[in-house]
Amino acid sequence: MEVVICPDEEQVGAVAADRVITQIAGKHTPVLGLATGTSPLNLYAELQRRSAAGDVDFSHALGFALDEYVGLDPQHPLSYRQTIDRTVVKPLGMTPERVRVPNGFAADLEAAANEFEDAIVEAGGVDVQILGIGSNGHIGFNEPTSSFSSRTRVKTLTQQTRDDNARFFDDDETVPTHCVSQGLGTIMDARNLVMVASGEKKADVVAAMIEGPVTAMCPASLLQFHRRAFVIIDEAAASKLQYAEYFRHVASHQPA
Ligand code: GLP
Repeated sequence: MEVVICPDEEQVGAVAADRVITQIAGKHTPVLGLATGTSPLNLYAELQRRSAAGDVDFSHALGFALDEYVGLDPQHPLSYRQTIDRTVVKPLGMTPERVRVPNGFAADLEAAANEFEDAIVEAGGVDVQILGIGSNGHIGFNEPTSSFSSRTRVKTLTQQTRDDNARFFDDDETVPTHCVSQGLGTIMDARNLVMVASGEKKADVVAAMIEGPVTAMCPASLLQFHRRAFVIIDEAAASKLQYAEYFRHVASHQPA
């Protein structure tokens, strides 16, 4: 795992955008794994700037979102379909038909989840998966105790996640209870992982992910097993790390 500590969350976005662009350089049809949440918004804003500057072109890119709520119409403004369209697809100039979001509104959720998995395989796999981390260590919506080999499927949200996401809804009752999420196995198949986190509220879970044991109780700790996992965090999110000094040293003493 490579850990980069940035002075602030804007820098997190800039460094993460650099990683994403480097990893898809020269590809006519890059395949991006897309995350919702507040954490990657600076990253998307920077990608938008870089695309406007002509450094990168996402119009041929394929996209696969991590997750979706069950039971929300894809037209609902709080569905992840709409969120991804609003925060990623439009700003980056991606082609909406080339971006898939797991279907949480299908009559047969399991069949839809399997089709989603097949589509990733048909696309040749994900080049770079963008990730945030939930306050309980989830990635996508893989809640604690999720299987490390899980694939896209229906999950039940924990109360903690529903509480965290209640801020987007008018009242707590409307936060869906279930979701469809890429599995931990699906995420781990991506060729590169770019995880972003910022703020003091993420400090404990970031320390657990980077320095704690690999355990299903902190699903993000599985990133320790990925060959190309880049974790980009700000000072506040790094504040509980024992090895923060080491990570700073590594970043400023790269071999020539
Ligand atoms: C959500 C999403 C995750 C996201 C996480 C953190 O529930 N399913 O993909 O990473 O919560 O969100 P935020 O970045 O807003 O803290």
